[in-house]
Amino acid sequence: MSAYEFSESLDIVFNFLKNDKKHTILIVDDEINNLQLLKRTFRGQYNILTAGNGVEALSVVKEYGNEISLIVSDQKMPVMEGTDFLKEVRQTHPQIIKILLTGHVDTDIIISSINDCDLFQYVLKPFDVEELKIAVEKGIDKYEMSTNNKVYYNELRTLFYETIRSISNALDTKDAYTNGHSLRVTLYSMILAKELNLDEDYLEDIEIAGLLHDIGKIAMPKNILCKNGRLTDEEFNVMKSHPAKGEKIVLNINKLETISSWVKAHHEKYDGSGYPLGLKGEEIPLAGRIIALADTYDAMTSTRSYRKALEHDVAISEIKRCAGTQFDPKLAEMFVSLASTIDEARKNPEEYYSKYSLLNKNINFKLISAEETNRVS
Ligand SMILES: [Fe+2]
Repeated sequence: MSAYEFSESLDIVFNFLKNDKKHTILIVDDEINNLQLLKRTFRGQYNILTAGNGVEALSVVKEYGNEISLIVSDQKMPVMEGTDFLKEVRQTHPQIIKILLTGHVDTDIIISSINDCDLFQYVLKPFDVEELKIAVEKGIDKYEMSTNNKVYYNELRTLFYETIRSISNALDTKDAYTNGHSLRVTLYSMILAKELNLDEDYLEDIEIAGLLHDIGKIAMPKNILCKNGRLTDEEFNVMKSHPAKGEKIVLNINKLETISSWVKAHHEKYDGSGYPLGLKGEEIPLAGRIIALADTYDAMTSTRSYRKALEHDVAISEIKRCAGTQFDPKLAEMFVSLASTIDEARKNPEEYYSKYSLLNKNINFKLISAEETNRVS
């Protein structure tokens, strides 16, 4: 195929891609007769992209990979063989279903190519058109099933996240002084946790834990929770029960047992002087130590009914001062090293939240900054 024909066919197909919802398949074969036969076979049912060898096909995948549902590739081709091409596709676009056309009947080669390329099926050449049509239809079914499952999974995850966020938001807005607090604590916790190179599952859990860390305050009497002024010792003792109350609430949510223990630990202090258990050092779960830093920083940089917000630099100095007593010294040091990022995130919380969030990339809610909270308080 000439470069002109190649680009012309891409243009035609690109228009197809924009205008209808047919599945797109990529056919890769160096033998022009085979390519024409395959095109004729499938063009009524699918949008067709074509390439004459592996290298050419890789550039098609690079450009249109997210639109391609299935690839039918010949094995023996100049420049790059089918299996080498499909191995690369497996790395970049694992969701694409792959069918290999091969003249090899050696079972070892067939099995290793199935494993290396994550092949859906191989079809021996010379192939029977009807047999290939059935293989492609089954491949498209599999593609639809896995993408639909992914869509449902993502929808459920978003729904779960939205539920958690609206609960924590309901709590924060009970009091003008804490409006946006849980989301900002989540944001600072995510920034610190990302720096620790924790795996994605842990980061997602931190995001949920940040949103829920103060959920136990729902069980606090309103006259204490929203008191205008400092709490008495007696009132403070009541307030100190919120981490344990929060643990109980979160334990009721399926699969959040670990997170419930983090919620319980967010007021523990590194030297053992915190509450509710007086845990010390690494007895405190890592996520509890992370959230404690984020929580204290947000509390310091927000106005309270009994004091004005501290400046960012003053809050950072305070964190430095309390490293090793209130805070895990290594985490505190890391938090201080992230001070300028934290300060930017404090000023532009929505922008930073969508950058760091794993559960909500397209932020669709207003995240009030500490400064805005301070203005309305
Ligand atoms: Fe708290």
